[in-house]
Order: sequence, then structure tokens, then C-alpha cells
Amino acid sequence: MRVVAVAGAKGGVGKTAAAVNLAILSARSGHRTLLWDLDPQGAATHCYRAQAKVKGGATRLLGGKRDLAAFIRATEYQRLDLLPADPSFRVVDTVLSTRRWPERVLRKLLRPLDRKYDVVILDCAPGLGIVTESVIAASDLILAPIIPAPLAVRSLDQLEEFTHAHRPGLPFLAFLSMLDERKVLHRQLVAQVRGDRRFALAAVPSSSSVERMGMEQIPAVLASPNNLAAVAYRRLWAEVEERIDLEPQLPSQP
Ligand SMILES: Nc1ncnc2c1ncn2[C@@H]1O[C@H](COP(=O)(O)OP(=O)(O)O)[C@@H](O)[C@H]1O
Ligand SMILES: [Mg+2]
Repeated sequence: MRVVAVAGAKGGVGKTAAAVNLAILSARSGHRTLLWDLDPQGAATHCYRAQAKVKGGATRLLGGKRDLAAFIRATEYQRLDLLPADPSFRVVDTVLSTRRWPERVLRKLLRPLDRKYDVVILDCAPGLGIVTESVIAASDLILAPIIPAPLAVRSLDQLEEFTHAHRPGLPFLAFLSMLDERKVLHRQLVAQVRGDRRFALAAVPSSSSVERMGMEQIPAVLASPNNLAAVAYRRLWAEVEERIDLEPQLPSQP
């Protein structure tokens, strides 16, 4: 089992959009995949048409010796399961801070699922707190969308420092998100990050096909497979597979 966390300090940068699309691409590459929504807003849960309800809430899910399997739901897609979030996830930080080893909680909860899933994708809420520490301890790769703005690229340094302060050497991959190549500044930033090894080659363009996901509740890579955003997510997934040392099991489908 490989765990990929889509994380970062900022909200609204395309974390959920990436998690939702990469999860279905993983399933379609033949990997048994679990998408774990860790954001109280439950946007990933919504995109997969699941109810944002966790019995007993974050306290029951993360506060004791719970079996995650009881909270997991199937999606309408083959090989893809979902662990939904609900509004109680607002207090995840507080729940974790009551535990003796908060940073170990997610890793311990995921361990029994090792044989059941090949890939787990964590859709994290924005922030660099205890939850993120626990995410870092549980993950094999941190994936960080960066919007093309000078300050956003700086926030990447912060995330990388935070990640490596807690787990030196943990693989880390950033990618440009919501790119608009008509804008001079965006093109300049593309050129700037080209030589930066922390960045994936794939960059996700700004696209209404991604925005529509919230309404249509279908991952953009399925609803508009020929759209440039879908092409970018497929390239990004291929790079992620390579980083986590996973072979695609099935030929990639559009
Ligand atoms: N590539 C994209 N093109 C256009 N809109 C996008 C793109 N990625 C995300 N969005 C939109 O931006 C908003 C924030 O995206 P989201 O993935 O929820 O960010 P985060 O999870 O980082 O908070 C959402 O309304 C989403 O539809
Ligand atoms: Mg999100």
C-alpha cells in the first residue's frame, strides 16, 4: 500500500480537485484505491456523491482504537472506495492532540488496510498543524498544488521545510495548478519552476471542466477526458506512480 497526501498550507489551490481526479485515475490504472477525505468541508466526499456523515464523527474515527473499515464506503466506480468527511472534522486537530502520539494516529489506523488497498489518497484540509504532522508520518509522497503566484511558490518552501522537519527525505512533489498560460506572469512562473526538481512536469490548467465537478459530481477526467486538465491529471498520475514506485496494472484509458 502506498499513501499519497495532497496537502498544503493554503486553501482553494486545487488539492481536492487533484485528489478526486488522481483517485479515479489510480483505480482505473488497476490499483485498489481508497480516497480519504480529511477536510470538514467534504468536497471530495461530495464529488463522489457520498453523504458527508461519519457515525460518531471525528472523535469516534480518530479518537480511539477504531477500525477504519467500518467507515469506508464503496463508490460507483470499480476499485475505488471512499472514507468520507463530515463537519465534525473541524475538530480533528483537537481530537488528535488528546492522543499520546498524535503524529502516529493516521499511520496506525491505515496499517490494517495494507492488504486491502494498493493506493490511499489523502485529501487534506489546508494548514500545517497536527493533522498534517500525522499525514506526513503516514505518507509515502506529499503532493502539493501550487497556484502560479509568487507568494504561493514561497509557501512551497514552507511546506517542504515543515515536511522534512518531521520526516527528512520524505518524497515531495509540487505541481502548478490552475495555470492560465494567457497570463504573462503565469508563463514566467512556468519557466521559473522548469528547472526546479521539486516540481512535476505536469501542470494543471485552469479549466471549467474542473470547476464543473462540484455540480456534476463526476471527476473531470471522466466527464471531459479530452480536456487539457484531464490530460494534465493523467500525466501527473503517471509521475506520481513513478515516484511511489508503482507499475500501472491496466493500460491507461482516456
Ligand atoms: N484546474 C482548475 N481549473 C479551474 N478551477 C479549479 C481548478 N482546480 C480547482 N478549481 C476550483 O477552485 C476551487 C478550489 O479548488 P479545490 O480543489 O477545492 O481547492 P483546495 O482543495 O486546495 O481548497 C474549487 O471551486 C474548484 O472547482
Ligand atoms: Mg480541499
